[in-house]
Formats: sequence, structure tokens, C-alpha cells
Amino acid sequence: MLAPKKGLLAADESIKSASLRLTAVGAPSTEEYRRRYRELFINTDGIQNYVSGIILHDETMYQMDNSGRPFLEVLKEKNILIGIKVDEGTQVDPDSENETVTEGLDDLEERLQKYVAKGAVFAKWRAVIKIGENLPSLGNIKKEAKNLASYAELCQKYGLVPVIEPEVLREGNHTITESEAVLIQTLKTVFEAIAKKNVDLSGLILKTSMVIAGSEQEKSAPEVVAKATVRALKISVPQNIGGIVFLSGGQESVEATENLNAINSIKELPRRATYSYARALQEDALKIWAGKEENVSEARKIFLHRLKMNSLASVAEYSPELE
Ligand code: 13P
Repeated sequence: MLAPKKGLLAADESIKSASLRLTAVGAPSTEEYRRRYRELFINTDGIQNYVSGIILHDETMYQMDNSGRPFLEVLKEKNILIGIKVDEGTQVDPDSENETVTEGLDDLEERLQKYVAKGAVFAKWRAVIKIGENLPSLGNIKKEAKNLASYAELCQKYGLVPVIEPEVLREGNHTITESEAVLIQTLKTVFEAIAKKNVDLSGLILKTSMVIAGSEQEKSAPEVVAKATVRALKISVPQNIGGIVFLSGGQESVEATENLNAINSIKELPRRATYSYARALQEDALKIWAGKEENVSEARKIFLHRLKMNSLASVAEYSPELE
């Protein structure tokens, strides 16, 4: 999963999110168009040079590409590892009405076994932490941490690599300093909860937010984001975890590449850090494609370019002139 110069593609947007993204570019938000959206990326020639694994949504597991081949077969042929999003989205936290809790533990064991039988080798669970007035609450972070830990333990029981994603949201007016403090507290709480379970840390991947100022604040320079991110991860993440990947969290595509490059330029993390982006890899291509067959080849060029840029950033060899 963490092969040099590769990362993960998060192609696991929920049906609701994928539909919203299609509507935003004027494409129909039907199952068929979600299938074409997945096809656009999965069948891009050369994707396997930059992507070691793809996180799929349950719907895609059963769909076929344009030639009628199951997407799962296409991925196996390209030597791309199959991942599956297994959380079932968020619900309002009954103890804190402005926060949410991620659900999906109830029937998780059966679902994990089903996905293993279909060829999945890793899984993802996303928890959402919101920064705001008196937020996040410690109670909410603890609940999310406990669920992430239970999920990780079950994944390993069935032979799947757990990717744990406690996402600290960018939305809001918080400073980069507040973002750093919340990420540290979140990750410390998550790894405390994991320590209470039977989890092999070396077989677990952390998918984290970068330390970044709120969306209503001015953007910080990549070097500032990188220093704060590395500082936060060094004090809150055990040295012996399997790896670290980043979500893009609504950053512009080039911004996400620059920040990843700056983080890897510091060379202080115990493991190299790479991308597990959805929007920062797909969004530019999606806009060009706009649901139209005649735009597929142009959109794939853009997608491949973003992959190349992020691949370089994952080994600190990116520079903006390459854009
Ligand atoms: P973004 O890169 O768009 O934040 O998505 C990553 C992801 O997997 C969210 O769960």
C-alpha cells in the first residue's frame, strides 16, 4: 500500500456526495453516471504507476466498466489493491447536537467478511471532528476514537489493513494554531483507544488531515503547514504504525500537492507520508469531463498529471514549475 512514489485514490464518495459532485458539473446524478465517474479514473492508462490502492464505495464493488468487465477484475489486473469504505456515514451525536458520530459497527463483521471474499485487502473508516465555538467536545472525540479502535481491531481479525481516518474539518474560522491543538488532541485520544484493543500498530494506516487554518482564514504557506503538521504528528502518533496518508479536505489541488511536498521535505516523520486524496486528485478532471464522453481523454490527461505531481510530492521532488 505504501510503495515508493505511490499513494491511494479515495474513490469512495458516498452516493450522496458523488451525486452532488456530478450535479455540480451538470452531469446527471444517476447510478449510471456514478459508474461512468468511477470508470473515468479506474480506466485511466498508467494509473497503476501512481496508485497502489483505491478505496471503493460498496456500489462500485458490483459495477462493470464500459466493456462489461467488473471493476474489481480491472483493478486486480492492474495490480491495484482493493480498499473499501466500511463506515456508514455520520449521525448527530445524541450528547452534543452540533457534532456527529460515525456509524457502522453493528453489522461490520459480516460486511468485512463479504468484502474479503470479494478481494478487498484494506478498509477505511472516517470520523469527523468539527472545530467551532466550544468544539470539539472531549466526549465526542472519545466516542469517535473508541469506534475507530473497534473498527481497526475487527479489520485485523479478518485480515484487512485498517485505514483510520479521524478527519479534523477545515470548514470554519479557526487559526492554524487551533487546528494543530485539535489534531494533536484527536490523534492522542485515538491512539489511546487503540492501545486498549488488540491492534497491531504496524499493520494500521493513519489517514489524517494536515494542520491547516480554517477555510475562512487566509491560507498559510506550505512550509508553515508542513512544520505544524510534522510537529503534531511527531507528538501524537506512535512511531511504529504502518504508515501515514493524508486526505485533501477541500484544499485546492495544487495546494494539496505543495503541502504534501513540504511535509516530505522535512524528513522527520518515522514513515514516509503519501496521498489518499479524493477531491485534490479528481476534481480538476471531473470539471473537464462534465459527464460527457467526448471529454474523457482530456479529463484523463488532467487526472494523470495530478497523480504525477503528487507522486513527486510524496518523495519531496515536486516543484510548482512542473505544473
Ligand atoms: P478528500 O481528499 O476530498 O478530503 O477526501 C478524502 C476522503 O477519503 C474523505 O473521506
